[in-house]
Amino acid sequence: MSTGIIIILKIFLSLIPNTRLTRCSKSVFTLIPPLGKRYYSINVPLFTYPHKDHCMQPTTELIVALDLPNARAIDPLLDKLPPAIRWFKVGLELFTAEGPACLHALQQRHLKIFLDLKLHDIPNTVAHAVSAAARHGVGMLTVHASGGSGMLKAAVEAAAQSGSHAPKIIAVTTLTSLNQADLDQQGITRPLSHHTLAMGSMAIAAGVNGLVCSPQEAAAFRHQLGPAPILVTPGIRPAGSAVGDQKRTGTPAQAVRDGSNFLVVGRPIVQATDPAAAAGSILNEMQISSG
Ligand code: C5P
Repeated sequence: MSTGIIIILKIFLSLIPNTRLTRCSKSVFTLIPPLGKRYYSINVPLFTYPHKDHCMQPTTELIVALDLPNARAIDPLLDKLPPAIRWFKVGLELFTAEGPACLHALQQRHLKIFLDLKLHDIPNTVAHAVSAAARHGVGMLTVHASGGSGMLKAAVEAAAQSGSHAPKIIAVTTLTSLNQADLDQQGITRPLSHHTLAMGSMAIAAGVNGLVCSPQEAAAFRHQLGPAPILVTPGIRPAGSAVGDQKRTGTPAQAVRDGSNFLVVGRPIVQATDPAAAAGSILNEMQISSG
């Protein structure tokens, strides 16, 4: 289908209240809201982005955190979610339970993987872990900024040496489950916002491609670092949803408005009674906020 037809369809749908055709990935357009609880997607194979690297496109995407106990739970969840969601997070729970085999379900569907292992060790160990992760074909991989400049540089260098499959290295600044009192306990006495900005700047200077921060710091990072670094924000909570163990949260609208590139959402979707509806509502809020 040509982009001309997509434009005509978009104009037509804009005449129907609260309905739109949203471009949520490189070549997939999805009708929001879903019709009769089903999502209809239009694939546009001829359409190409001006950016070769999808990861660096200046739009905001949703990453669903697959915080699941085992690999058997992956497919039933993926079957329910809107096909517009192209990125999924595999973190410590699933990866520790199943190992790299848990990535196959995502690879078979040509989905993008955010491997959130939050590596934090001596530079040599982290470099080898990054090389191993790169062989699994993941799009983004996390390391802890607090591992220090040497460790971050080793991670970046190892990723660069993995050639065309190099994952983007994303440094976690301050966990979204921490607040000022938690930092005080660790002997970190400067204000949390200063500490987080300093850690992020140090990581960017070491060469990482992006940062994980809370929605509450996204605007400050965008202001300080400009448009280039990838900003990934967990701690996303749609209005009225339970915060759980997260202490620095923000709404999807806030994160989009403040310049986040990727919103990571786990429990508000994965533990929802209707994950499809929860994801659809977040996508809708993101789309509206991106104007
Ligand atoms: O369920 P919830 O939406 O809180 O999940 C957030 C996800 O983002 C979790 O998988 C968590 O590991 C991850 N994350 C985070 N805070 C960070 C980095 C990653 O919550 N700083």
